[in-house]
Amino acid sequence: MVTTDTALDRELLASWYARNRERSENLFDSVHPDAYASRPIPLRNPICFYEGHMPAFSVNTLLKRGLGDGALDSQYEILFERGIDPEDEGAVPEARRPWPSRDEILAYAGAADRAILDAFASRDIADPSNPVLAGGLAAYTVLEHEPMHQETLRYIWHRLPYDRKARPEGLAAVRIEGEPPARREARVPAGRATLGADPDQPFGWDNEYPPHTVEVPPFSVDVHSVTNRDFLEFVESGAYASDGPWDEEGGAWREQNAVRHPLFWELHRGQWFWRGMWDLVPLPMSWPVYVTHAEAAAYARWRGRRLMSEAEYHRAAYGTPGGEERRYPWGDAAPDALRGRFDFAAWDPAPVGAHPRGASAWGVHDLVGNGWEWTSTVFAPFEGFRPMPSYPQYSADFFDGKHYVLKGASPATAKELIRPSFRNWFRGTYPYVYAKFRTAAS
Ligand SMILES: [Fe+2]
Repeated sequence: MVTTDTALDRELLASWYARNRERSENLFDSVHPDAYASRPIPLRNPICFYEGHMPAFSVNTLLKRGLGDGALDSQYEILFERGIDPEDEGAVPEARRPWPSRDEILAYAGAADRAILDAFASRDIADPSNPVLAGGLAAYTVLEHEPMHQETLRYIWHRLPYDRKARPEGLAAVRIEGEPPARREARVPAGRATLGADPDQPFGWDNEYPPHTVEVPPFSVDVHSVTNRDFLEFVESGAYASDGPWDEEGGAWREQNAVRHPLFWELHRGQWFWRGMWDLVPLPMSWPVYVTHAEAAAYARWRGRRLMSEAEYHRAAYGTPGGEERRYPWGDAAPDALRGRFDFAAWDPAPVGAHPRGASAWGVHDLVGNGWEWTSTVFAPFEGFRPMPSYPQYSADFFDGKHYVLKGASPATAKELIRPSFRNWFRGTYPYVYAKFRTAAS
C-alpha cells in the first residue's frame, strides 16, 4: 500500500493520522458536555476516557515502546492506557473520580498529536533493527487503532439519550423501506479457503497470522442477512420465554438480564421501534437485525440451522466457482459506496440486499458492510501465532474461549480495516455492537 523497499510514505501516514484525529474530534464534539464523563455502556469506560486513550495509546506505542522516548505525561499515559472488557457489571473496575476535564484532555491530545506528527515527518519510524518499528509496525498499529475505537464510540453514542448528543446538521431522515426480499439460500460447493494475512502486505494485526488454508465441505447459506421481519417471527413465537433454542451461556444471559428482544428494539404501546442513532423509528422490517451471538445462535437453532464458521464465511465471501479467491466479495475493486454500507457512510443500516454490486461470487449479499457477521468460531490464535511487538496484549488477552469471531464490516468500520484477514471479536452476550448474522446448513 504505502511501503517502498526502503521507506514509508510519510505524507500518506500523516494525512491518515490527521483524518483519524479530525473524525474523532467531530465525534466528541457531538456529545453534550453533561454527558462527557457518563458511561452509556456500563461494561465500558466513560466517554472521556476514549478522548484521552487514543492519543495516549499512540504515545505509548510509537514514541515510548517504539522510539524509546520518555513520557509526555506519565500519569495520563497510565490512566488512559487500556480499555476494559469485564464479564459483567459486577466485574467493572472501580470508577476513577474525577476524570480530567475535557480541556485538560484536549491539551494532552494536542501535545501528543504534535509529537506523533513530528515522528511521522522526521524520525526513524521504520527502523528495521527494532521489532516494534520494523516495516512501520508501530505507525500502522497507531493508525488502525484509532478508527477501530471510532466504531466503539459510535455504538457507545448509540446508547446516549437523544438529548445528550447533537445530531449532524443536514442529516437526511433514515429510509424505512417496506418488506425484505423472500428468504433464499445459496449453495457453496466444497473448496479451499485461505484464512490469515499475506506476509507481504504492509500491516496486519497479530491474530491475522500466519496465513493457512482450510478445506471447507459444501454448505448452504442465506443470501440475505436475517432481518428484523425474520427475527420478529422468532420473538413472537415465544422463543425468549422458552429454553428450547438457547445454549447454556445464552440461556443464562437471557434469564439474568431478563432479555426479551434485541437491544436495538423498543416496545412502545404494543408497537416495535428501532433505536436508531438519531431517531426512534418504527421497526424497519427490511433491515438486518443486530443481535448478540447468543441470540443469533438461538434463532438459527430455532430454524433448524446454525451460524457459519469463520472458514465458511471466507468461502461464502471470497471463494469463486473457478477456485481462485477474491480480494473482496465483489472482486478486486476498492471498497466504495456501491459495494456496501461501511466507512461511516451512514449511522444506521440499509435494507438487506441494497448493494447488489457488493454480492459475492455465489450471490450472497452484504458479507462486507451493513453490520459485522457473527460466526460460530471461538476467537483463538492461528497455529504459529506470535503476539505483535508493538501491542503484545492486543489479541492474547482475549483467547479465553468466551469471545467469538466476527467478519466483514459495519456502517461504522473504516475502509482501511476492510480486508479478508481482518478478525473482530466480542463476547457472545455483548449486545451493543453493530452485528448481524445469517444462517447456514451442511
Ligand atoms: Fe484501545
